[in-house]
Amino acid sequence: SNPSLLILPGDGIGPEVMTEVVKIIDWFGAKRGIAFDVSTDLVGGAAYDKHGTPLHDDTMARAQEVDAVLLGAVGGPRYDDLDFSVKPERGLLRLRKEMDLFANLRPAQCFDALADFSSLKKDIVAGLDIMIVRELTSGVYFGEPRGIFKEGNERVGINTQRYTESEIDRIARAAFELARKRGNKVCSMEKANVMESGILWREVVQKVHDEDYADVELSHMYADNGAMQLVRAPKQFDVIVTDNLFGDVLSDCAAMLTGSLGMLPSASLGAPMANGRPKAMYEPVHGSAPDITGQGKANPIACILSFAMALRYSFDLGDEATRVEKAVEKVLADGLRTADLLGHEGETPISTTEMGDAIVAALDAS
Ligand code: NAI
Ligand code: MG
Repeated sequence: SNPSLLILPGDGIGPEVMTEVVKIIDWFGAKRGIAFDVSTDLVGGAAYDKHGTPLHDDTMARAQEVDAVLLGAVGGPRYDDLDFSVKPERGLLRLRKEMDLFANLRPAQCFDALADFSSLKKDIVAGLDIMIVRELTSGVYFGEPRGIFKEGNERVGINTQRYTESEIDRIARAAFELARKRGNKVCSMEKANVMESGILWREVVQKVHDEDYADVELSHMYADNGAMQLVRAPKQFDVIVTDNLFGDVLSDCAAMLTGSLGMLPSASLGAPMANGRPKAMYEPVHGSAPDITGQGKANPIACILSFAMALRYSFDLGDEATRVEKAVEKVLADGLRTADLLGHEGETPISTTEMGDAIVAALDAS
């Protein structure tokens, strides 16, 4: 049977960018004979409007069955005053939690045509293609004890960095598996010089490597040096694996190596399912962008590149993922720009739909 996809367009520009992704999915069915069983459902404010909950149980159940979930964005000012328990974001959080998506993948990929968009020198970022794998469900954001406590006559704020061997083991495996589908190189970042959790992290990552992934090149780096190296010479990396806190900071830093929010895809992966594929949700990094909703201004590339990640990491279609990325590269090289990508005088923006159509045309020519 065909691989299955659950599409959750969500709110704001979510449905606008997803419409363009569906064109690409249809193109694969029609022109490459790669068909997906696609189902579409509501999430976020859209689900709240219909069901009174940001994620219906049936949608949750479907998300657990499919090979990959593709999500647009959730939220918007209409829902800001809702009770916390039914806020649009809760739909997203429920998906992440119940699917146990512990590995957050944030690529930083620089298309040559946009290299002068980076805050760094062009030659430092041109051709950049790295992936940060951030542990997402443990570490200092979750560890106990946590709280603000009274200590003598003042208060103390406490959080606990906590990682079990099995939590480190599974994120390490996720990183090594990814590396095999990319440049076969992993750099693990922690602070083993000052943190026990870092010592254990380094030990377990090394053990997983030596036992099961000796073919992948592994190095270790202190996370502060890693931040410096990301800005100094980011092309030295392929896959970076790190904990929740360091990953939060390092992935935002890496994202800005390449420019616009409208270009950034992401994925969250969980444990392998019976068919060997990891549980997976793919989504653009950006939100629902209420300021440009309904104006045809949204850049669909982040969402399209999220689908390309699904091709590579859920469906083992790396060559087809590259085909999509090359088509994006082509339209950018041709000078086509949505409004968020305008950098030079005299450039006029194209619409969301025109960008999607141009990428489909570039695929046709590929
Ligand atoms: P945002 O990412 O929606 O927008 C930030 C800025 O970037 C805006 O000026 C927007 O117009 C622009 N932008 C974002 N995506 C773009 C695209 N594809 N093309 C062109 N321009 C784009 O973040 P913001 O404004 O902080 O949040 C708006 C709503 O989205 C809120 O309700 C927030 O809770 C929600 N949100 C949802 C996320 C998700 O679904 N994963 C992530 C972040 C925010
Ligand atoms: Mg952050």
